[in-house]
Amino acid sequence: MDYTKLFSSRTKYMKASEIRELLKLAEGKDVISFAGGLPDPQTFPVDEMAEISSYVIEKYGAQALQYAPTAGVTLFRRTLASWLENQGVAVNSDDMILVTTGSQQGLDLTSRVLLDKGDIVITEKPTYLAAINAFKPAEPRFIGIEIDDDGMKTDELEKTLKTMDKQDLSRIKFVYTIPTSQNPGGVTMSMERRKHLLELADQYDLLIVEDDPYSHFVFEPIEFQPLKTLDKNGRVLYLGTFSKILAPGLRVGFMLGNKDLVSMMELAKQAMDLHSATLSQYVALEAIKRGVVDKTIEKARSIYKVKRDAMLEALDRYFTGLGRWTHPVGGMFIFVYLNKDVDTKPLMYKALEKGVAYVPGGSFFVDGTGKNTLRLNFSYPSIEQIKEGIKRLGEFFSSI
Ligand SMILES: Cc1ncc(COP(=O)(O)O)c(C=O)c1O
Repeated sequence: MDYTKLFSSRTKYMKASEIRELLKLAEGKDVISFAGGLPDPQTFPVDEMAEISSYVIEKYGAQALQYAPTAGVTLFRRTLASWLENQGVAVNSDDMILVTTGSQQGLDLTSRVLLDKGDIVITEKPTYLAAINAFKPAEPRFIGIEIDDDGMKTDELEKTLKTMDKQDLSRIKFVYTIPTSQNPGGVTMSMERRKHLLELADQYDLLIVEDDPYSHFVFEPIEFQPLKTLDKNGRVLYLGTFSKILAPGLRVGFMLGNKDLVSMMELAKQAMDLHSATLSQYVALEAIKRGVVDKTIEKARSIYKVKRDAMLEALDRYFTGLGRWTHPVGGMFIFVYLNKDVDTKPLMYKALEKGVAYVPGGSFFVDGTGKNTLRLNFSYPSIEQIKEGIKRLGEFFSSI
């Protein structure tokens, strides 16, 4: 049967992620991969999770195995709210938490609830590829705003907003940002720009979607606050996740924002999967209560700091003269801008032959630019692999 004739029109935007394809190519070969975005499994609290899992089933029994409310297990949502407050993420009285199946589902829900064809989404340039892929089926128009070491250039955003006509301004549905340890850019938005962004949101009546998987394990002593906390007017929809601070396999994420907005997301989620896994929510709840999440964060912080330093050192050694790169204060990625006017996408196959994989940066740019860029992941490879892989990559780019 020809199944393709059955596919809906939105499937034309469903493309296999380049990163996943790349990882497949690298499989089984002597390839050092900087292409993925996986946490280091050393950060997973395996023993504690074994104990927690059996405890949860013993203590909560059928409750942990039963269907749950779409918004999430009530006890978990309450515990999460106070943990977030302790972490400096403001949870206001007119806010609601919706537990999601990873924050990726939060992106999909945002797309389904907010976007119609022709609406405008403003993103950083570069931005998270899977967010672009979540928004695309709704056929919005994207506007990309450049980033530098201080995150999204909000003065550029202001200029863009000033030049837009009334009709286009009314079609802006949200500004999507990853302000802290950005993926893929590896930069963090300054406090000044955070405040400016919120001022612009007030002035132009904009919603901000703050995607924040990385701020809990920033490993430099920098001063920053989430946009959600700085926001006084309910303009921020905050997406969070346990993927990087406990375990991605649990698929526990959440959305936090004004209840008028989040309750519509709850309705959309109901039709999608009824609710996120009850058992995972109880495990995450117990992991917060026992301090396992906080311990995992500490561990991730120290492991990733050492790995980031190793990658920066190797880049200094093998990439000097080839380009510039970001110096992330947290997260998992370094982004490289090559000096040469090359396209890193076709070059990636040649790099694979040299035994090293990266993600070509172009797909992170909503306007088709960024061809001379690449994303490097430092959380997953070992220190030795980082040293050897950056050496291979530096020699490769020097040779072209
Ligand atoms: C910026 C960003 N948002 C969202 C996600 C999705 O994470 P998850 O669905 O595992 O919570 C990721 C994962 O790498 C990410 O980097």
